[in-house]
Amino acid sequence: MKILPPRVANIAAAAKVLQEGGLVIMPTETVYGLAGNALDERAVAKIFAIKGRPTENPLIVHIHELGMLESLASDVPPHALRLAERFWPGPLTLVLQKAEKVPSSVTGGLDTVAIRMPAHPVALSLIKRANLPIAAPSANPFMGLSPTRIEHLDPKITREVEIALDGGPARVGVESTVVDCTEGMIRILRPGGVSRALIEAALGAPLAAPPQQGHRSPGMYARHYAPRAVLKLVDGLGPNQPGLTLDAPQTARQIKMPRDPKAYSASLYDALHRLDRLRVKTIYVQQPPSEPEWEAVLDRLTKASTAL
Ligand code: TXA
Ligand code: MG
Repeated sequence: MKILPPRVANIAAAAKVLQEGGLVIMPTETVYGLAGNALDERAVAKIFAIKGRPTENPLIVHIHELGMLESLASDVPPHALRLAERFWPGPLTLVLQKAEKVPSSVTGGLDTVAIRMPAHPVALSLIKRANLPIAAPSANPFMGLSPTRIEHLDPKITREVEIALDGGPARVGVESTVVDCTEGMIRILRPGGVSRALIEAALGAPLAAPPQQGHRSPGMYARHYAPRAVLKLVDGLGPNQPGLTLDAPQTARQIKMPRDPKAYSASLYDALHRLDRLRVKTIYVQQPPSEPEWEAVLDRLTKASTAL
């Protein structure tokens, strides 16, 4: 795999790979994505195979302009359009009724499709240049930690891909918020880069409760977003425990995390990747505050700390 700086010629080369059914690594503001043509069943099959991802776990389709929405979704309810206009380009994914041309392999067999317009300029230029809707899950093996820097990419992924565009460290650092817009109301399926409070403010109403257990909610696995090491949430770190702390670090293997939830999100995966590289067996994470603006961080830490 070639890691290329995001110059126009390199973006054009990556777009050509996409048009020819190949895969590339695409930077986004949330995490790096493993990108392929969403309308090409063979490209989509490669994405699932390389990640080792169960085929019923649907992919997000990335667009660069609102006009692409019409050809991918058969119905865009007014509340969904309002969110798109307010938060796109940005870390929000809308689940909508799918249009016929979206292959069911992309949507894991569902009749809905997840769509996002990413805010990273390189992603937007790449999608525009390819002139295709782009399916892109986070570019990590199934259940693993998402890459927020090019150095985080796993060889299992890179050896299967021709080009990675280096877009620098991801600004948001956690995945997009996934919202279901298909049932006459908005429901958060995965907390992420856009907070619940901002979505509620945009809609002018509180959000519906999360789906009941047993409700079909693909991709909501108990363990997910996990480092190689065992992750343990604790009230505070012991002097020799490697991990993430909100207080002063006591050893070189303790990483001081920001007390601001956005800054914490932006550095979370990088910090976990760094400790994984040190091959520590257990990563101790000081429990962050439980206020609503920490929802996405708490979701990822809880899933990462769940045993298989
Ligand atoms: O920030 C992001 O969303 C990143 C970047 C690359 O855009 N992508 C990402 O993709 O996190 P992935 O595949 O790792 O996670 C997609 C999530 C999964 O939880 C999946 O189940 C959910 O979106 N999803 C996709 N299509 C869906 C659908 N039709 N209905 C419900 N959930 C869906
Ligand atoms: Mg993922």
